[in-house]
Amino acid sequence: RQNVISVADLSTGQLELLLHTALKLKAAPRDDLLKGKLIGSCFFEPSTRTRLSFETAVQRLGGKVIGFADGANTSAKKGETLADTARIISSYTDAIIQRHPKDGAARVLAEFSDVPVINAGDGTNQHPSQTLLDLVTIYETQGTLNRLKIAMCGDLKYGRTVHSLAQALKRWGCEFAFVSPPSLAMPDYITEELDEAGCAYQVLPTLEAAVEWADILYMTRVQRERFDEQEFAKIQGRFNLDAAMLAHAKNNLRILHPLPRVDEIHPDVDATPYAYYFQQATNGVYARQAILSLILNEEV
Ligand code: CP
Repeated sequence: RQNVISVADLSTGQLELLLHTALKLKAAPRDDLLKGKLIGSCFFEPSTRTRLSFETAVQRLGGKVIGFADGANTSAKKGETLADTARIISSYTDAIIQRHPKDGAARVLAEFSDVPVINAGDGTNQHPSQTLLDLVTIYETQGTLNRLKIAMCGDLKYGRTVHSLAQALKRWGCEFAFVSPPSLAMPDYITEELDEAGCAYQVLPTLEAAVEWADILYMTRVQRERFDEQEFAKIQGRFNLDAAMLAHAKNNLRILHPLPRVDEIHPDVDATPYAYYFQQATNGVYARQAILSLILNEEV
């Protein structure tokens, strides 16, 4: 039984297989790979893209979905444990996709589930399916993952997408630049992993410096839901990108964002050739199809 809980659990070979399977499914869509499979989609935390692209992925591959988009309407509200939830939903389904506000919740679910568990985001910890769609998008825009210059900006402390992505891209010798308020800096455990992998990283003071340097500028939202209001007011709007700031970008620069954005990318960036965040979100369907079909269909 193969779970997808953390990027750190996946070998480089597994990531490459997922990446190339996603690209193949984008080039030649399939409608049969999940025929007869029923997937549980369990979202205890808000989501637009992850939930709907997973559900699109399942349905377009011929599978079916049950689940919920609001954990407040489930028996978790009455005090049911994740362990019991796992036992029950895994007795109905062939795999479970879960988003949860608590770090580590996906691993707990997997411990008590009889079917594969896919982590669709657990607290500030991991978002591995987002990482796969990010890798697909980076490869699609740069033609390689090797030795790219990756600038990450915004909330690097609580942003699970940047944690997962850094853990993946270190395998291909990428260089990193971090732009954030000091209170939202990349956690030490990630920079220690970059050190161990021999990947250079630096902290840059401004977004303009990152724009000039980067092949990929990965913007993130300050996660308001993880702050009290006073703390949030101190850091809101500190690193916001607009089109004028792109004057010195390299031609191959592409701007990614896991979305949703609030004000960290001005809408005037959308019309520039550097904006690629909407195409990135579309790639979520193919990335998630790759995960589901590799886990559930032995012929893939
Ligand atoms: N990127 C992402 O996780 O978006 P949602 O929160 O809308 O799923």
